[in-house]
Amino acid sequence: MTRTLTRRLAGLALIAGAATGLGLAAPGAQADTYPQRPITMVVPFAAGGPTDVVARIVADHMSRTLGQQVVIENVTGAGGTTGITRAAQAAPDGYTIMMGHMGTHGAAPALFKGLKYDPATSFDPIGMAAGTPIVIVAKKDFAAPDLKGFLAAVKAGGASINQAHAGVGSVSHSTGVLFDSIVGAKPTLVVYRGTGPALNDLMAGQVDFMTDQIVNVAPQITGGTIKAYAIATPERSPALPNVPTTKEAGLEGYEVSAWNAVFAPKGLPKDVSAALVNALGKSLEDESTRKRILDLGGTVPPTAERGPAALQKLVESEVARWTPVLRAAVEGSQ
Ligand code: MLT
Repeated sequence: MTRTLTRRLAGLALIAGAATGLGLAAPGAQADTYPQRPITMVVPFAAGGPTDVVARIVADHMSRTLGQQVVIENVTGAGGTTGITRAAQAAPDGYTIMMGHMGTHGAAPALFKGLKYDPATSFDPIGMAAGTPIVIVAKKDFAAPDLKGFLAAVKAGGASINQAHAGVGSVSHSTGVLFDSIVGAKPTLVVYRGTGPALNDLMAGQVDFMTDQIVNVAPQITGGTIKAYAIATPERSPALPNVPTTKEAGLEGYEVSAWNAVFAPKGLPKDVSAALVNALGKSLEDESTRKRILDLGGTVPPTAERGPAALQKLVESEVARWTPVLRAAVEGSQ
């Protein structure tokens, strides 16, 4: 190595050293050192359900970009608020992140008394993961040939009909309460630690129906082990081309979609946040990752609608949207 080059490198080392000595991390130093160990992604529902499925799909690719394993930890209970509260209170160091959704970060404030976090202020938003249309699904031998027959049966059946959900404030609970209020039904609500376990009971005929995210139920609908009466979106899903929309099938006013998104505890160092935003963004640009989400009927938001700023705006608008709707639905059902 020539003398000049050695002197220049030594000079650079001195500058970097001085910067660090002054407590100023050498430029990019934090990003270079983060992550130094595996990252925990808290999933606030049982393994195998929609939140878990979306989390594992994006975590798989994020691990590759970050160079450290993003490990899923299922922390269940209380409609997902137990896991989200745990993650919200973790150190904001980038080693604990979480997969939240329209329930935990949109509907929960309206339905869950004494929530220990504020969706709009307790987190650093990292970005959207997947949109998840809602499907009205029933056990395969539910005695109704179509949605109109199903609505009549659910209304007439009253408390003899069992409706599954994943806890107060969850997606299946909030979209289920809204469905019941629109239809005028008063079924018996059966709570699970996630709609993964609920789906098992639906397939076994132990529970009658639920409103759930497409990424959980699409394979079983296609496989004929459960029945889908309608999808609550304006257009049919390419993943379920034979399932009519609620409007087509005769139920006006019930159009709901959920979404899943990655959050971190409030106060991440900027470099750490940037590394996580970059890794999530790259996972949603990866063709095979996108395909896994789309094949399950999920949607991947366009780039401009899925970064941290867009997610923060979405959380604020969802809390504002769902609070009056769900409070009215609950009051109406009493
Ligand atoms: C799940 O992953 O089990 C669901 O997201 C629960 C729910 O919100 O309905």
